[in-house]
Amino acid sequence: MGARRTEWVARGIRATLAVDRVAWLASAARSALVLAFASDAVLTRYSTLAYGATRTYHPDSPEFDATLFPFEEQAFARFFPPAPARVLIGAAGGGREAIVLAQRGYEVVAFEPSAPLIAGLAAHVPEGLQITAFRASYEDLPRLEPALPGGLAAGLAELPRFDAAILGWGSFSHLLSEARQIAALQAIAAVTDGPMLVSFRVDPRRTARSGRGWCACSGGCRAGTSWPVATSRCRSGSSRPSRGSNSWRSSRGRTCGWRR
Ligand SMILES: C[S@@+](CC[C@H](N)C(=O)[O-])C[C@H]1O[C@@H](n2cnc3c(N)ncnc32)[C@H](O)[C@@H]1O
Repeated sequence: MGARRTEWVARGIRATLAVDRVAWLASAARSALVLAFASDAVLTRYSTLAYGATRTYHPDSPEFDATLFPFEEQAFARFFPPAPARVLIGAAGGGREAIVLAQRGYEVVAFEPSAPLIAGLAAHVPEGLQITAFRASYEDLPRLEPALPGGLAAGLAELPRFDAAILGWGSFSHLLSEARQIAALQAIAAVTDGPMLVSFRVDPRRTARSGRGWCACSGGCRAGTSWPVATSRCRSGSSRPSRGSNSWRSSRGRTCGWRR
């Protein structure tokens, strides 16, 4: 290739970067418009649709990985009762946490708002595992709809009480107001006698490492609306949910550990 042609090809490739820039600007503009004009109901529905279309969460997908994250293993080892025990899992997706815990001998009740994800879990419960699946968001609680057509609906309070609960990976951040966060914690705490593991996104600008956090609370308290939050008993050193940290008043009386 002659020097002149080499120069023009190199310049041509560089010029295509403008396409990336335009795409980035379009994406940023769309985000700004969505945040400015979409109602909470639209954002919530969008989130459910998007998760339902993500293959990695489907238990019949080759990309589905039924393993636990280190933050979950640490929280379970430190705070959770040993199996057999009853665990309630919210935002269960296609059942990542549910399947692992059921394989370890826990009896699991899982709920999730995405119809395809929770139907996938209900249809793919491995033989011998105790998993009952329902379709519901945190906002729907205490009402639990059947995961599969023809199944039975239930009320959370009608089920036998739970020894522990999980608000699954990152899901607490999908609750778009502090009132919803408190309501979800109260609904779950009202039927749970042991620890609650809550997973949420944190602002990566405020944390040194990845934007994932967890808080595990243990103790036999009931939901309440008065301070003090577990903060005084929290192990510090990391960050809080960017919004709604007051929600932790609902876990009054529980010991609380924070990790990045
Ligand atoms: C990051 S995925 C985690 C799924 C599963 N726990 C896992 O770890 O594979 C977050 C889940 O939260 C669910 N979700 C979103 N908004 C929710 C809400 N308002 N109430 C309950 N779950 C919600 C999504 O449908 C999605 O399945």
